[in-house]
Amino acid sequence: MKLTELYRDLRSDLSCIEKELESAVNADHPELQKASIHLLKAGGKRIRPVFVLLCGQFGEAPPAEMKKVAVALELIHMASLVHDDVIDDAELRRGRQTIKAKWDNRVAMYTGDFMFSRALEWVASIENPTLHQVLSDAIVEMCLGEIAQIRDLYNWNQTLRNYLRRVRRKTALLIAVSCELGAIAGGCDKRFSKRLRNFGYYVGMSYQMTDDILDFMGTEKQLGKPAGSDLRQGNITLPVLRALKDPQRKEAIIAFLNDEAAGEQTWQQVLRHVKESEGIVFSQQLSARYLQKALNELDGLPDVKAKRSLHEIAGYIGRRKY
Ligand code: IPE
Ligand code: IPE
Ligand code: MG
Ligand code: MG
Ligand code: MG
Repeated sequence: MKLTELYRDLRSDLSCIEKELESAVNADHPELQKASIHLLKAGGKRIRPVFVLLCGQFGEAPPAEMKKVAVALELIHMASLVHDDVIDDAELRRGRQTIKAKWDNRVAMYTGDFMFSRALEWVASIENPTLHQVLSDAIVEMCLGEIAQIRDLYNWNQTLRNYLRRVRRKTALLIAVSCELGAIAGGCDKRFSKRLRNFGYYVGMSYQMTDDILDFMGTEKQLGKPAGSDLRQGNITLPVLRALKDPQRKEAIIAFLNDEAAGEQTWQQVLRHVKESEGIVFSQQLSARYLQKALNELDGLPDVKAKRSLHEIAGYIGRRKY
């Protein structure tokens, strides 16, 4: 099933959120405005706002606050992408030039900050201290995850635990929070909002693992962002960590990471080492295990329509190609 089909019941809410996103990035300075719109109009899966809206349906509250939260979550996500592309020195995002490539790192820095601040502004009128606390905690954790990744670059002695902690911080928590805050804004029972948070957390872990697999197995055209760049930049993701368990492959991978002048041929060999190792299958299996944990969380929730959609989206995440 395609994303558009999965989102079918949310079509009118999502088009309303698109308009709000556009007005949220409205800025007095043309460069800030253009850069923000450039990324916004490139699309993206909008998975975080979708989780907010679906999880909100487990409560009875009217949708106004849920929509605000949904807009804020997408803005925070986009801000993190703009900054991530600076850190990862990426040229392409959502099939377009990144802000850092089309403008420069300085513009990207402030465009990211601007989007973060707009997100906070957007939810400022919601009178619920828990919501603000949960949101700011997630942003703090995301920063910790991204900086930990910089510290872990080229560290081929890192453990699986290390990788999981990074993924939890940089990706899973924001998705967890999308679900939890959707539920809170929807006026949901606390037991359910915690369960939905867990669902989002497990989905988020699986989501980043798939992203890391796709970096090896996908193409730039499919992904709308460069493939194969994680390892080239020394980012040791799960497929590589696992490939390093094989002494022969380990030797080739480390030699590549140590050789600044390594050419295309060496790179292709290393790429093959990772793809042919058990790293990809291991990552797929672990990702599937996290998805199963996510589905188990859904079991304890009331049978509202959104539950089926969450089920279907989790299935999509397991199969996604971009
Ligand atoms: C990319 O997120 C970064 C990760 C956390 C894996 P998405 O894959 O959700 O990016 P868009 O929003 O669809 O572009
Ligand atoms: C996720 O990591 C980035 C953030 C949480 C901001 P990646 O660096 O793998 O994301 P992509 O692959 O560039 O989208
Ligand atoms: Mg990154
Ligand atoms: Mg990146
Ligand atoms: Mg990636």
